[in-house]
Amino acid sequence: MKRLTSAELRAAYLKFFKENGHAILESASLIPENDPTVLFTTAGMHPLVPYLMGEKHPLGSRLADVQKCVRTGDIDEVGDATHCTFFEMLGNWSLGDYFKKESIRYSYEFLTKVLGIPKEKLAVSVFQGDSDCPRDDESADYWAKEGMARDRIYFLPKKNNWWGPAGLTGPCGPDTEIFIDTEKPKCSDDCSPACDCGKFIEIWNNVFMQYNKTAEGKFEPLKNKNVDTGMGLERTVCILNGYKSVYETDLFSGAIGLIEKASGKVYGADTETTKAMRVIADHTRTAAFILGDSKGVTPSNVDQGYVLRRLIRRAIRYARQLDTGASILSEVAALYTEQYASAYPELKRNKEKILSELGKESEKFERTLSSGLKEFEKVAVAALAVGRIDGESAFRLYDTFGFPIEITEELGRDKGLSVDREGFDAAFAIHQQKSQAGAEQKFKGGLHDHSEETTKLHTATHLLQAALRKILGTEVFQRGSNITAERLRFDFSFHRPLTAEEVAEAERLVNEAISQHIDIVLEEMTVDEAKESGALGIFESKYGEVVKVYTVGNFSKEICGGPHAKNTGELGVFKIEKEQSSSSGVRRIRGVLS
Ligand code: ALA
Repeated sequence: MKRLTSAELRAAYLKFFKENGHAILESASLIPENDPTVLFTTAGMHPLVPYLMGEKHPLGSRLADVQKCVRTGDIDEVGDATHCTFFEMLGNWSLGDYFKKESIRYSYEFLTKVLGIPKEKLAVSVFQGDSDCPRDDESADYWAKEGMARDRIYFLPKKNNWWGPAGLTGPCGPDTEIFIDTEKPKCSDDCSPACDCGKFIEIWNNVFMQYNKTAEGKFEPLKNKNVDTGMGLERTVCILNGYKSVYETDLFSGAIGLIEKASGKVYGADTETTKAMRVIADHTRTAAFILGDSKGVTPSNVDQGYVLRRLIRRAIRYARQLDTGASILSEVAALYTEQYASAYPELKRNKEKILSELGKESEKFERTLSSGLKEFEKVAVAALAVGRIDGESAFRLYDTFGFPIEITEELGRDKGLSVDREGFDAAFAIHQQKSQAGAEQKFKGGLHDHSEETTKLHTATHLLQAALRKILGTEVFQRGSNITAERLRFDFSFHRPLTAEEVAEAERLVNEAISQHIDIVLEEMTVDEAKESGALGIFESKYGEVVKVYTVGNFSKEICGGPHAKNTGELGVFKIEKEQSSSSGVRRIRGVLS
């Protein structure tokens, strides 16, 4: 086996697939484009969904890349040897080009010839078949032809050998998975790659994407038979080098070294220390990649921003356990920006933002962390009798001390306490209703008022979003909108205050569009068509559903329920009255028409 570094493995993988006719793509953003069914890109196929659904890819029918991915489903497992919340996926695709035979050949050749893994150290699984899709004898035969011994080919059910869709709907299919056999003895006669005893470690997954899962749960055949594969970079480097854990690879060794230095403790000294160091190294890396992404978000209480907040706060809690300050996060993040400078230059480019946001979030949390932990101890003592922390207390820890509910749950677990999650959700909902009631009082009318004034302001909001994106870039995206008969209020993602010039320019662009008397065109189309047409929007509908798209010349195109003015000339003169912060990473503009 070749002891490759992470950089060498990336290069070897891309070289091999390039030589085999694949076009090499850049990693896409970690924030999925207009897909509300997932918060982050979780696999290399995710940015390619339209092409897997039958669109032509401009670079052809054979593609390969290294994609940055975030999966937070296993966040509580981080700290063991293999789980990471961020990872890189090496992927190759056939869009209606080759299928099972070549896909299996490429994988076998890359693993045995390029990486030099002996075939006796490999095992594979194939789909055993069910009512949705037949048993995959074809793949088994191809593996055997390549040289894989029949007793190393396992037939497994859907639970193991089916992949996708990434969100709720989309492309999916049976797969064949490739495992490293660690040569540990079988744990039982039935021991197979389906077993988690540790004998078999999955490194690569080849999905034969033949189906589209619809919102109704049906599997419809896709236009093309595609191949979608994914190999975990971290794991493969770990295995090639004979390490026990991914944290020993060159991807983490620098970070772990810094944490050791800052804490004066030794990685591996005991389980607690090892876990804390791994959590800090992992979560900080993920946070740096989320913040440093071209569509990077900042910590908040919703969606991606909330996941980011959870990661940072959990890492800070573990830093505290090691008796080091939260500044270790910034130190480690700075190291990652250098370490990944050539593979992901955006990290270095956004270094300042990464460090300043980490600093701000750390400061916020550190202010309340000590008192929160004291409060938690009190709550825990009171909860011991019933074995459960009540929802009100969990909400207080969240609301007053900034403890994400998951941190309270984790701290509780350490003491054998559960958390009344329903009670927490109820307390949360009451709190939201209260603040909403206040907001509604203030802004009577809101979006449901379809008067002439609100209709015009609604159109002005589209023009404003388009203008801001032209001036400030695609980081700008609607985060909220509230319209009364008097004014619009538009919340959008952006990381800093606007300059006076930028505000003036936004006003000017909107007024220019108004002065051009452009007709506003309404079209109905499927979400796919809308996405493809470049319309902006929060894609709340499932694939195939029809949405309304409002187009204002070449200026703006958005998915929206309406209603809108017929022509921009009706709007009058637009003026921005105020530009201010709304929440972390979100700006707010108040504007009027006269
Ligand atoms: N999309 C497949 C996976 O994530 C390759 O495993």
